[in-house]
Amino acid sequence: MKAIRTIEWKHGAIRIIDQTLLPLKFRVLDIRDIRVLWKAIRQLKVRGAPALGAAAAWGVYLGVKDAPETEFAGFSRRLDKVIGYLASARPTARNLFWGLERMGSVAVRNRQRPVSRIKKLLFRQARQIVEDDRQTCRAIGAFGSTLIHGGDTILTVCNAGILATIDYGTALGVLYSAQARGRKFKVYACETRPLLQGARLTTWELTKRKIDVTLICDNMAATLMAQGKIDAVITGADRIAANGDAANKIGTYSLAVLARHHRIPFYIAAPFSTFDLQLKDGAQIPIEERPAGEVTTLYFKNPVAAQGVKVYNPAFDVTDHRLITALITEKGIIRPPFKAGIKKMTRR
Ligand code: MRU
Repeated sequence: MKAIRTIEWKHGAIRIIDQTLLPLKFRVLDIRDIRVLWKAIRQLKVRGAPALGAAAAWGVYLGVKDAPETEFAGFSRRLDKVIGYLASARPTARNLFWGLERMGSVAVRNRQRPVSRIKKLLFRQARQIVEDDRQTCRAIGAFGSTLIHGGDTILTVCNAGILATIDYGTALGVLYSAQARGRKFKVYACETRPLLQGARLTTWELTKRKIDVTLICDNMAATLMAQGKIDAVITGADRIAANGDAANKIGTYSLAVLARHHRIPFYIAAPFSTFDLQLKDGAQIPIEERPAGEVTTLYFKNPVAAQGVKVYNPAFDVTDHRLITALITEKGIIRPPFKAGIKKMTRR
């Protein structure tokens, strides 16, 4: 597969793949205005927690690179405004805020330097965030691949792959790493209603990578497990609290409950930039609610529900840490008890 990059800085613009068009069209968008970026994030043209961290970083740079202020105070006010604006695009993925915070702290640490220099340092920081993600995902993949055995069948949901990161993936990175080590395995991808990231993005990615993938509707997972067809579930995460409770795409929690009932290991693969150690448990994770139209019509030619029906459309759910077998991170695999394990691993 030709190497693709979900997000990069190209010719003075943020270049993203418009993921809402996949798998029908592969089209890149060059973004030169942070309002366009905000909308692209909100509409999931660029999505997935680590990719949102990179979008936030490039967004901050884009938002201040032509700032006219030469004094730090004025520049800093503008920077805070840009950061606050981008922070309002989507609430759940910790990485978005992590990216914004990392950019903000570069400016504060270098406040004595000329604004022109700070701008250069912000560019470098964004580039570093991108480079770190590439390494981090490969490290997650290497650790996680030890959990995949030849002949396994893996179930996943949403898209935690190349398209959700810079170029490798977390949950799917584990699979790419196992593939690179010569392991043969199969994958079932949940379609992931309502926005179909599993059907549209994960099957596209895995097919291109020549991984044996079968698409199922979300409500078929229990049957597959009961039939003994699933050896492990691996998903990504958007935010992980200090006790290991993990928010991910809606439907993840039900897979974890099902996996426990069928005695199947349930793994979450995520970088430390997804951990929010300020939150003691998952009840404090903000859950995004999205428009009704995504459930009633989007991606369908015709409406699929009664006109004007009430809709509840939470985009994420929280999986209780007691249902998680292990967290796969770039520093290693964390097993229960998670609170102590996460603390210890953070210090590494
Ligand atoms: O709404 P999305 O498509 O941004 O949701 C993405 C997910 O839930 C992913 O599983 C998560 O961000 C991890 S991506 C490595």
